[in-house]
Amino acid sequence: MSFVVKMNGALNDGIHSKGMNGNGVHHLSVRTHVSVNPAKLKSNRPRWTVRPSEMSKKTLNPIRAIVDGMKLTPNPEKPMIALSIGDPTVFGNLPTDDTVLQAMKEAIDSHKFNGYAPSVGYQKSRDAVANFYSCPEAPLEGKDVILASGCSQAIELAISVLCNPGDNILIPRPGFSLYKTLAVSMGIQVKHYNLLPEKSWKIDLKHLESLIDDKTACMIINNPSNPCGSVFSKDHLHKILSVASRNCIPILTDEIYGDMVFSGCDFQSLAPLSSDVPILSCGGLAKRWLVPGWRMGWILIHDRNNIFGTGIREGLVKLSQRILGPCTVVQGALESILNDTPPEFYQRTISFLKSNSEICFSELSTVPGLNPVMPSGAMYIMVGIEIEHFPEFQNDVEFTERLVTEQSVFCLPATAFEYPNFFRIVVTVPEDMMIEACIRIREFCSRHYLPRSLDSHELDQ
Ligand SMILES: Cc1ncc(COP(=O)(O)O)c(C=O)c1O
Repeated sequence: MSFVVKMNGALNDGIHSKGMNGNGVHHLSVRTHVSVNPAKLKSNRPRWTVRPSEMSKKTLNPIRAIVDGMKLTPNPEKPMIALSIGDPTVFGNLPTDDTVLQAMKEAIDSHKFNGYAPSVGYQKSRDAVANFYSCPEAPLEGKDVILASGCSQAIELAISVLCNPGDNILIPRPGFSLYKTLAVSMGIQVKHYNLLPEKSWKIDLKHLESLIDDKTACMIINNPSNPCGSVFSKDHLHKILSVASRNCIPILTDEIYGDMVFSGCDFQSLAPLSSDVPILSCGGLAKRWLVPGWRMGWILIHDRNNIFGTGIREGLVKLSQRILGPCTVVQGALESILNDTPPEFYQRTISFLKSNSEICFSELSTVPGLNPVMPSGAMYIMVGIEIEHFPEFQNDVEFTERLVTEQSVFCLPATAFEYPNFFRIVVTVPEDMMIEACIRIREFCSRHYLPRSLDSHELDQ
């Protein structure tokens, strides 16, 4: 027996859908031996059972989980200085460039960008991104670009297209927490590979390789790094590629801080160095152009040996069709943003970040009990705590919590990045705040530092 049911019609319970035609009409069939008694169906529902889905229960943002669990009561006598927020716009000292704003105004005034765009973005905008990042060693065309709602959605699409539930992915420790949040919510296991603070946060390559097994679907590389501010050398990137190549593992590289490196250091994008490893390179406007709220990101598909083939490309297109990506006005402005932003704007930002990093590093490196690691790029500096010299605190969470209570300075405990006994400082704050924060951190440490670590017996007395 077969029915035709209009969408929005009431007659669709207990019936198997055979798909929908273009008129919004479902063709449905029911097994004729099943007699459906609507009254009985109703009474069989014992009670309300509306529960959160398994996916929602598995979704955990560790930063929220840790920060919301902290008692953050600032000292009322000292104005709060938040060194915890990775949003460069919060203090107003790092505005985006006028050309970026102008491009956006023109996009609005053109009235051309008020409708839906194709799910992967306007062709013109994709072409603009391809032109901006194309180089002879890793040529790109518009078809190799998928626009996304921020780098976060680019990462989500990339993980979703490469991994199945039950697979595992390799992610950095310490590392940006979104990778784990997304993967675990999708039923993908994460394995952390170690970064080495004493080697400017290079990857422990032996450890990385030891984690690979039959279920490893991809490795995520984040360069320059949040939270470390580290930048990998060409040589190190070649070694990472060798590991991936030997084991036939594709790479998702998160280059949202690409080109945000201090003078004296070069940023090398991963894809141009790869001869065989297929790479999905994720980026966006958030950091380099200082407009994180505009939610513009992208995936660059690098697949010169046709290993991803049409499958991964088509998969990305299909995934992008679930929810349309970035705001069309920003897409309309993208070509001008990429082509017209003057080099001095990028330079100014980088000089500022470098200068603030140097202030912070030189101030904190003379504080007994603290070990800052000088960054080479991005917007962060990681500071190690010799926790055995601060016997009042169990760990970085307690240390940073009390730093708020006494000194009204909030730094993110690196437990949020799976790296206890460090904390992360964001260096986008105005210089005077940075200096004041360092003075207060020094005071705090000298109040709580014990030159030699006490054993538990002495502590009990
Ligand atoms: C390493 C890293 N990747 C991705 C993102 C997300 O970028 P977006 O704001 O474009 O989603 C961030 C944001 O802080 C980040 O630090």
